[in-house]
Amino acid sequence: MAKLLITGGAGFIGTHTSLVLLEAGYDLIILDSFINSSPIALKRVSQISGLNSTELARRLKTYTGDIRDLDFLENIFKTCGQEGNPIDAVIHFAGLKSVDESVKNPLLYWDVNLNGTKTLLTAMEKNNCRTIVFSSSATIYGKAQSIPIQETAKIQPINPYGKTKAAIENILSDLTGINPNWRIACLRYFNPVGAHPTGLIGENPLGTPNNLFPVINQVAINKLKVLKIFGGDWPTPDKTAMRDYIHIMDLAEGHLAALNYLQNSTPELITLNLGSGKGYSVLEVVSEYQKVCRKKLPFEVVNRRQGDSAISIADPSKALTKLGWQTKRTLNEMVRDGWNWQVKNPKGYLEEERK
Ligand code: NAD
Ligand code: UFG
Repeated sequence: MAKLLITGGAGFIGTHTSLVLLEAGYDLIILDSFINSSPIALKRVSQISGLNSTELARRLKTYTGDIRDLDFLENIFKTCGQEGNPIDAVIHFAGLKSVDESVKNPLLYWDVNLNGTKTLLTAMEKNNCRTIVFSSSATIYGKAQSIPIQETAKIQPINPYGKTKAAIENILSDLTGINPNWRIACLRYFNPVGAHPTGLIGENPLGTPNNLFPVINQVAINKLKVLKIFGGDWPTPDKTAMRDYIHIMDLAEGHLAALNYLQNSTPELITLNLGSGKGYSVLEVVSEYQKVCRKKLPFEVVNRRQGDSAISIADPSKALTKLGWQTKRTLNEMVRDGWNWQVKNPKGYLEEERK
């Protein structure tokens, strides 16, 4: 079975996708600096996979290091080659993802996201590995002109984080010009939420969360006093902003579908929205949470957050046509699985890290 390098494989999307890929039979090399994740997450992936220790030793290897370090990357490619089991493809999650932090420290974001990716692509070129699935983001559409958003919509990111993602898509496009053997999937994620149904892996924000689901989780366990709803004057039916939330397991399965597509078609660069095509308002999410956790969640409507838009909803039809992939899970499952993870791991992976 093919061997994959998963950069950032210990993170939120990386862990869930690694699990799906392991279950599909792929052998994995996970590379992570653990700057925003925990080795415990990978222990949990192994646990859910149900593989025994011999199988795990053979099929799942972990390297700790930074994607900006070319020697480190080359060493991984070389070692796999020498063992007679070269890396066939890369799933590239590693990077920094906070919009706020990117505004405060743009140089760090350009360095990690852009230079890191450039270094990874250099190592891939040198080692004749030319298949990559890249984590792009719906944030590159900025304030979209029309809803649902198609892949052909204008790319107009409004923050440094989004600009790094758009720039990486450009680099990837240029690569196909110098070597037509590249197989590239740029996956533009909408809003990934929820957790694995076992509650063993999930989103583990370090520090105070900014995103809606982790914030609601913390309000529901009284770690945060109140949910601040950013804006009650948006042009939507209930006046709160609408997003296309996608269950993390649907997103993980989207990566498997994209990889299978790349491996079975002629080389190409494909750009796809990964979203459900349905939008929910902040108040609708709060209402679903209240049903699932059976408590009233205190909230107040405050001013709009800088950089937010009214509505972001994917047109996911291209992913269905090309990959045969579409989301299966409902908002209720997103909330239920996200809440289950929170209840089972009120401090994320911290408690097990201390053991
Ligand atoms: P995450 O922070 O949980 O995972 C990223 C992983 O990359 C972490 O484990 C982190 O330790 C690692 N990493 C960071 N810098 C690194 C470096 N220089 N070298 C090696 N490892 C490094 O984030 P996530 O939510 O899993 O996101 C994965 C990817 O998807 C990111 O590229 C992100 O920009 C993109 N994305 C995420 C979202 C979202 O809402 N979660 C939306 C769109 C796109
Ligand atoms: N929201 C609140 N209160 C909060 C947090 C969020 O009202 O405390 C609202 C936001 O205003 C927005 C919605 O909930 O209307 C969703 O906000 P998130 O922060 O969860 O997600 P965003 O749509 O702002 O952005 C996220 C990631 C981006 C990514 C984008 C698309 O933060 O990095 O999804 O994938 F690019």
